[in-house]
Amino acid sequence: MDLYYLLVQRSFLWTVQLLIIFLISTEGGFSYRRILDRRQLRVGFPPEILADAQNITVHRNDRAILKCTIRHRGTKNVQWGIFNSSHPLTIGDLTWTSDKRFSVSSSNYNKTVERWNLVIDNVQPKDTNTYECQISSIVTRLRLVHLTVLPTQRKISPGVSLNGTTLLDSRGTIIITCNATGAERAPESVDWFHEGSIIRQQSSKWSGRVKISMKADVLRRSLISQLIIERSTLKDRGAYICRSPDKIMESIEVHILEDNNPPSRAVRNKLSDEPAKPNKAALSTLSLIIFILAVSVSAT
Ligand SMILES: *[C@@H]1O[C@H](CO)[C@@H](O)[C@H](O)[C@H]1NC(C)=O
Ligand SMILES: *[C@@H]1O[C@H](CO)[C@@H](O)[C@H](O)[C@H]1NC(C)=O
Ligand SMILES: *[C@@H]1O[C@H](CO)[C@@H](O)[C@H](O)[C@H]1NC(C)=O
Ligand SMILES: *[C@@H]1O[C@H](CO)[C@@H](O)[C@H](O)[C@H]1NC(C)=O
Ligand SMILES: *[C@@H]1O[C@H](CO)[C@@H](O)[C@H](O)[C@H]1NC(C)=O
Repeated sequence: MDLYYLLVQRSFLWTVQLLIIFLISTEGGFSYRRILDRRQLRVGFPPEILADAQNITVHRNDRAILKCTIRHRGTKNVQWGIFNSSHPLTIGDLTWTSDKRFSVSSSNYNKTVERWNLVIDNVQPKDTNTYECQISSIVTRLRLVHLTVLPTQRKISPGVSLNGTTLLDSRGTIIITCNATGAERAPESVDWFHEGSIIRQQSSKWSGRVKISMKADVLRRSLISQLIIERSTLKDRGAYICRSPDKIMESIEVHILEDNNPPSRAVRNKLSDEPAKPNKAALSTLSLIIFILAVSVSAT
């Protein structure tokens, strides 16, 4: 009796033990591992700077992007500066120099990796230097990037390109965009023509329906100009030309459909003149009815 009782008690204890081991190895172990992961994210993994290009060469007046990719930054700040200089250029998201050409661009690459790139606009040969990206922690992590700025500008061939509305209903809005690129710098303005005559916003022909905007893209040495004509009429159709100060030009043909609301008599007549064509579905239904009729007739 006593032996039997002991056996039952033992097996019960074993079962409970097995159950506990099972729980720890699966669910329990999983959440324990998760806690460990989270703690390591916070304190376990030291910040680390990943490898990026160390030598960068750009042309004068371009934009230079010096890359710094960091894993496990945690709460540490990323700092950019000139190698061995005591003055930082940027700390975190802030710029610490009065030179407006410098900025930092930060973004998440994935959960653990971030990019902290130093951006230098309108870069000049005097910016040629060795820069350092660093994270201050117990051990300072440092990465050097050497920037070379060539004294010449990047070669850009001048040109003009046009795009926009080519087909619209009358009373609609015509929008045409002109991208004029200069060899040395962005053009200061462009001229717009319609059917050979220059478009002036003030002229009575356009009676306040025309807007012309111009916006320079310094980096690409381009001027983006937009021509907007509202409440268009049939008289507005034809060739539009955008001409750069280098006398390079491009044209686009705008077609305007007559007002179809109400449709003009010509269009309506054309529509009703169309001979009525029986459609396929009706034809096949008809042949089905004939077939059924024929079958029922022959059956009787
Ligand atoms: C980068 O440039 C420096 C000096 O111009 C040179 O010593 C070094 O080998 C270059 N490194 C790479 C990876 O090209
Ligand atoms: C940078 O500074 C350290 C000490 O502050 C000096 O030993 C080292 O030679 C310097 N390196 C350069 C390239 O100026
Ligand atoms: C994030 O990207 C780095 C670099 O490509 C990669 O090594 C790492 O496994 C990625 N981490 C996650 C959580 O996707
Ligand atoms: C026309 O070009 C401009 C800039 O060149 C661009 O922003 C716009 O999306 C283009 N529009 C079309 C319809 O392609
Ligand atoms: C304008 O043209 C230049 C040269 O082709 C190009 O680099 C630039 O991206 C264009 N700008 C836009 C807004 O399309």
